[in-house]
Amino acid sequence: MSVGRAPGKLILCGEHAVVYGHPAIAIAVGLFTEVEVTPCRRVEAEGDDRLREALSALAPQGGRFSIRSELPMGAGMGSSASLAVAAVRALGSALTLEEELEQAMRAERVFHGSPSGLDAAVIARGGALRFQRGAPPAMTPLPPPSWTGVVLDTGVPGDTRAMVAQVARGAHGPLLAEIGSIADAIGDHLDNIGLLGPLLTHNHALLRALGVSTPHLDHLVGEALALGATGAKLCGAGGGGVALALHPDPAALRDALRARGHRAMLVRPPQERQ
Ligand code: PMV
Repeated sequence: MSVGRAPGKLILCGEHAVVYGHPAIAIAVGLFTEVEVTPCRRVEAEGDDRLREALSALAPQGGRFSIRSELPMGAGMGSSASLAVAAVRALGSALTLEEELEQAMRAERVFHGSPSGLDAAVIARGGALRFQRGAPPAMTPLPPPSWTGVVLDTGVPGDTRAMVAQVARGAHGPLLAEIGSIADAIGDHLDNIGLLGPLLTHNHALLRALGVSTPHLDHLVGEALALGATGAKLCGAGGGGVALALHPDPAALRDALRARGHRAMLVRPPQERQ
């Protein structure tokens, strides 16, 4: 039996825009997926056909997979890319980062069609990352922030494929470019929640204008801001999933949000690569 482990992620700026070649900033977060694999002639895993198809793309020789994840599924925290990287790590030995990423993308393509690669890249590398799609993508590691964030979970899974297709149907070029244009300011202020917060809130407004937010996500963002968050935004494809809020006293914000009936948890970037 061999075991692989990988973190989750949050996109601080650039979801959707990254699909069109604009820069994005994402961080790995310390909630993990663990995959155990034992030899088997076919691919066996508890889950749906798409999961087995994705695992088959990684393990054509077969394998019995057992998966444990601390990440909410389909919530914009990278559950599928985390699973893909953890499975590659369980299957492979001594892969370079590029090989790990290239293999994880095989599974990501089964899950999402034509993903930008941002999720798998930040999850495989850990830390914080500026990412721009291309052949090859441009990736710049950034110092990971030291803050603890508050993740608010709508409890409603979002459908990344459907949200990406919805954005593609609109004429959103200027909005997507505007999202891309704040990525570098976000990257420059990663560790300063006073400066970073308002940029995240602005990014949320742009995602809302793009049509990927929901009344529930807007409500959660509004509640966090009313409780003194320096900023908040939805993270990931939208249509459900999670929002991130920053606050000088994250535990106090989490408790206040829970007292109002919301699902809130603390998240931190892992301090070392996993
Ligand atoms: O899988 P999610 O919900 O974290 O969204 C991924 C980010 C998108 O930009 C919407 C899609 C992509 O391929 O980058």
